[in-house]
Amino acid sequence: MHCMLILLISVVNIEAQKKPSININSKCLGNIMRVDVGPLGGNLLEVSVVYNNSAILLTSSLASQCGLSVKMDQLGNAMIFASLQNCFAQNLDDESFTTTLHLRLHGNRVVEDELFQVAETCHYTAWASREIVCERNYMEVSVKRSAPGDSSRPKQPFSGDEQLGDPRRAATKRLMDAGFRIKTVVFFTPEEKIMTVTEAQRQGYGISNTPTRLVLRSPITSPETYTRHVAGVPMTVLTTSTIFEKQWLATQIYAGAACPILEGSVSFTQHSLSWFLPRQIDPLIFSGQFKLLEVHMGVDGQRLDAAEIADRRYSLSVNDVYIIIEIPVGAVGGHFKSLVQNGQYLTTYTIEPMLELLWAEDATHEDIRYKVLLPITTPLLSRPPQVIDNTVPEEQIFKMIFGPFCSDVALKNITFPTEVLSIADCSARGLKVLEHMSPKSCSKVFTLEVPFTYRGVVQMKEIGITVYSLHLTFGLLVLPEFAPFAHIAYLETQLALKVPPSVTGGCDYQNFYVLVKYGTHGFNFQTLVGKQMLTSGLAQQYSFMDNGTHFSFTVPFSAHDAAIEAIEASSIRSRLDVSLRNPDTNKNIQEFSVACSFMSTLTGWLGEKYIFLMPHSRILMLEPPLFRRPHLWSNIHRWPLCPFYLYWELLWNNQKGKLLLNVTLVFLPNIMMYENEIALPDLEIKGDSKTDEPEYELKVACYYDINTNHAVAFNNKPRTSKLYAENAMGELQFEMRLALDDSYSTFYRVDADPIAKYLQEPLYFEVELMKSKNPEVSLELVSCWATEDDRTSLPKWDLVINGCANSKDPNQVIFHPVFPDARVQYPSNFKRFEIPMFGFAKDNLSRQVFVHCDVVVCDARSAVDRACNVQCSNKADGIKGQKRAVSEVYGIKHVSSGPIFMS
Ligand SMILES: *[C@@H]1O[C@H](CO)[C@@H](O)[C@H](O)[C@H]1NC(C)=O
Ligand SMILES: *[C@@H]1O[C@H](CO)[C@@H](O)[C@H](O)[C@H]1NC(C)=O
Ligand SMILES: *[C@@H]1O[C@H](CO)[C@@H](O)[C@H](O)[C@H]1NC(C)=O
Ligand SMILES: *[C@@H]1O[C@H](CO)[C@@H](O)[C@H](O)[C@H]1NC(C)=O
Ligand SMILES: *[C@@H]1O[C@H](CO)[C@@H](O)[C@H](O)[C@H]1NC(C)=O
Repeated sequence: MHCMLILLISVVNIEAQKKPSININSKCLGNIMRVDVGPLGGNLLEVSVVYNNSAILLTSSLASQCGLSVKMDQLGNAMIFASLQNCFAQNLDDESFTTTLHLRLHGNRVVEDELFQVAETCHYTAWASREIVCERNYMEVSVKRSAPGDSSRPKQPFSGDEQLGDPRRAATKRLMDAGFRIKTVVFFTPEEKIMTVTEAQRQGYGISNTPTRLVLRSPITSPETYTRHVAGVPMTVLTTSTIFEKQWLATQIYAGAACPILEGSVSFTQHSLSWFLPRQIDPLIFSGQFKLLEVHMGVDGQRLDAAEIADRRYSLSVNDVYIIIEIPVGAVGGHFKSLVQNGQYLTTYTIEPMLELLWAEDATHEDIRYKVLLPITTPLLSRPPQVIDNTVPEEQIFKMIFGPFCSDVALKNITFPTEVLSIADCSARGLKVLEHMSPKSCSKVFTLEVPFTYRGVVQMKEIGITVYSLHLTFGLLVLPEFAPFAHIAYLETQLALKVPPSVTGGCDYQNFYVLVKYGTHGFNFQTLVGKQMLTSGLAQQYSFMDNGTHFSFTVPFSAHDAAIEAIEASSIRSRLDVSLRNPDTNKNIQEFSVACSFMSTLTGWLGEKYIFLMPHSRILMLEPPLFRRPHLWSNIHRWPLCPFYLYWELLWNNQKGKLLLNVTLVFLPNIMMYENEIALPDLEIKGDSKTDEPEYELKVACYYDINTNHAVAFNNKPRTSKLYAENAMGELQFEMRLALDDSYSTFYRVDADPIAKYLQEPLYFEVELMKSKNPEVSLELVSCWATEDDRTSLPKWDLVINGCANSKDPNQVIFHPVFPDARVQYPSNFKRFEIPMFGFAKDNLSRQVFVHCDVVVCDARSAVDRACNVQCSNKADGIKGQKRAVSEVYGIKHVSSGPIFMS
């Protein structure tokens, strides 16, 4: 049974399956021809030869018998070689040879079979006396059918075999005429073996008689060939003698061929192969007198010129014994094939070099053309694939190159500890797999990118670093056999932990201190102070300092970027917010707040600003934040309002729509009350401000009675945040001073030396209601008296009684009117009186005197205030004074002078 020479090429095209656009080329290469078919794209190619109008399917035995051979390369190209003298060639006078082939490309279920016909006619007239062709599957000898005589007979190896007479002597130069028929073929193995033509053909030999030549063909291994070493090179030798008969005449033609056996002809190194062909092939050349006329090198039956040989880095050399071809592994003209053995990835390199020699034998004047096509495959080459780790940890992606492989390797899947992914799955998971083909043989590589975030990546946190590791197994296939193999890879990389920047801070008596520690390199951030970006300008303002690992800045607690949270009696509570923000995401990396109470004493107002007395003799002026930030009003109760009420009206004289403040001074029986209405209209009502209703309203009232003042607040609008004011202490202050004269422009200093006066000298006193600055308030004297010690001591000399001068006093006090001047803004807040002389104390007076007054504060506007509008009854005395019902007066205050020394 002949096995069919059907070529199954099932290269799985990794790219899309597409209909092959097949190329068919034929060419004549001397005494052979070649048809190139391809690429087959995984289809089955069936070759038939056309003979006598019918197609005969080419089987391997038919091919070796008839001078055809088919070679496949792994890229899916087929080469069909045919001897010009193949069984099916149409031979025209041994000069023109036409071979016709049918090529059937088997389609699949979808695509129909395709049939191509190739007919090539080759002209070849340069026939040598003998032409020997060694092909992969056959050896062929074609002998000019003259009566070649001794020249056609090898002298070896059967020199003792003389049964058929000495062929040399039988030599005739005449052509045998057509009447001769082949009778028998004698094979020398070296024993003789005689077969009829029919027998020989049945044994697989090809024997044919062309117009001028005898063609004998043998499969490369047949029982009738034998092995001989020629110059150390083992060769398969075929030696025959063909006997022709014509009537009574018989003649014989010796025909022999010798073809090198691969093992023993070729030696390999890691990088090259060397083919040694004996320079003289004894079984073919009978005499020692020969000349090697031509040596040609080629590949796949095609001769190459010297430039091409050099170009492909082949070398051809001839020495006394051998013709030597050297080919680097991987050189152009050959191809690699991948294999898997014991799970190992291996390759072989295959090339089919050709040597074509022409000898001339002097003795016989014959020439011999010798052509050998030797398919050479290297032993298995170990090319373990490598994984090159190109990971840049900062990119957070494992990047690797995997290879190299020959082009017949396909990546099927990748196994991670968590899952097995096909190549399609990989891209769905965000892993990037790419195949990189290279024109260089076996340089195909795959690149793979696996983000650290992929769940197959193992993360291990250690001190200061994160270790990322990746175990994976590449699942590969060698095509077309679908031979699976695997390659394990392990990648590990470290990434310094990304520490974000951090911010800390604190305060001293006047500043916030902020220290920002930079994060690990590459942590980009912006700093916000309050709501402002820390620009270089702001940085400069805040004494920004940077030492490479940290930066710091200092923000005064009263800075605009700080937020006043509360104003308390002895401190201001201020808060600084600092946030570090990622500019890419606009998200805060860290938010930091520090709030501190800064010691301060709210001492007064200046313009629109609070004046605070700070430690270290500093004075702070602060715009009132409370009214700008209604949410802070809840802190108002911590702020003692009443001591400062006098100033409010100066400050808040109806601030256009921003802040309405109506300070009303109300006198109730026995009580003086300031009502402070604070309103913030329209702060949160936008647009339709038809409503005149203020959004916030707070009423603070300060009541003053004798010793305590009450601040009472009520909110006339229900609010979610309760506004209220706590009771607070207030103190009316009075001062009594002694003027130098009745101009009341110069006064004795209190802290000066004791004031010394003569008894007869008048004393000019002034009493002032301090800090009032309110024309609606009038200061009235209830009573004044002199003592030698404190106000309750005795003896006591009355000077003013119930607002009027003591009528019993011979030197009654004189009241002086008060007029506004540079010092006196509101005269109603003052009282002046003169003691003409201490006449009453003439006898008994000790040297030291104090003057005391009880005073009262009245509503200057009210004509009916009984407390304040008292007429002195003793009009007759002509003394201007006031009379009041002292018993009804509440809220009496006391004021005393310092000691006055009388002499
Ligand atoms: C060729 O075909 C013809 C007729 O079809 C036939 O007579 C002849 O024998 C055939 N020759 C061979 C060699 O098959
Ligand atoms: C992965 O591919 C290899 C071939 O290289 C194959 O042997 C194996 O069964 C595949 N694994 C899966 C899970 O598909
Ligand atoms: C920078 O300043 C910070 C805070 O004062 C300090 O801890 C750190 O050591 C300083 N770094 C250098 C390099 O001086
Ligand atoms: C201030 O209050 C008084 C007394 O309640 C009132 O008469 C006056 O209209 C108010 N003024 C303003 C501007 O609200
Ligand atoms: C002087 O003092 C004496 C006793 O100390 C007293 O009796 C007398 O009345 C005093 N004289 C006058 C004028 O007050």
